[in-house]
Amino acid sequence: MSLKSTPTRYGNVAMAFHWLTALAIIALMVTGQMMDGPIEAARQIAILQWHVPMGLAVLVLTLARILWWVIADRHPDPLGSGLQALAAKAGHAALYVLLLVMTISGVALMALSGAGEVVFFGSSAPLPEFTDYLPRIPHGLGSKLMIALVALHIAAAIWHQRFKRDGAMTRILPKRG
Ligand code: HEM
Repeated sequence: MSLKSTPTRYGNVAMAFHWLTALAIIALMVTGQMMDGPIEAARQIAILQWHVPMGLAVLVLTLARILWWVIADRHPDPLGSGLQALAAKAGHAALYVLLLVMTISGVALMALSGAGEVVFFGSSAPLPEFTDYLPRIPHGLGSKLMIALVALHIAAAIWHQRFKRDGAMTRILPKRG
């Protein structure tokens, strides 16, 4: 069991970052979708009390993950070569960018709208209209793009595992035995 990655598999720290982020993203997409469309204010406040801390956790995880790659770890060797390796690299980079866009736009949305007072500090003021604030645009568009990229990411992992049989999934899962 190695903390750092090797040329053939991800280390435990990288695996933990990956799966914790994946779980949090599922929860954020579900809670985000629950707020899509008309919603009672009390219900939206209750959802945001989960959505915001979880989104902040993803921001911290993403920054820690980037720092970990920069200062301590190296990615395993790419699977496949040429265009395929390049596509995988571009897809992963796009996911990182999107994680930063989503989390930073979320923080900006809360900060600019002043919703924190209502969501976390019991203010009885009405919830702000989030669509009046610019960061709501990248947050909404980013969430749609994220669904598409995550679906592509999962499809690629299944394709590698099932048809190329190159162990793409096993190298990001804890070793058995
Ligand atoms: C990767 C991280 C995140 C994901 C995947 C995510 C996902 C979503 C989704 C899918 C929506 C609904 C969008 C729509 O219906 O168009 C949403 C709304 C929202 N998110 Fe996030 N979010 C993330 C991070 C954050 C963070 C860090 C914050 C605040 C610190 C935040 C604050 C909000 C707020 C205030 C709304 C409500 C907007 C409204 O009702 O109009 N989000 N989020």
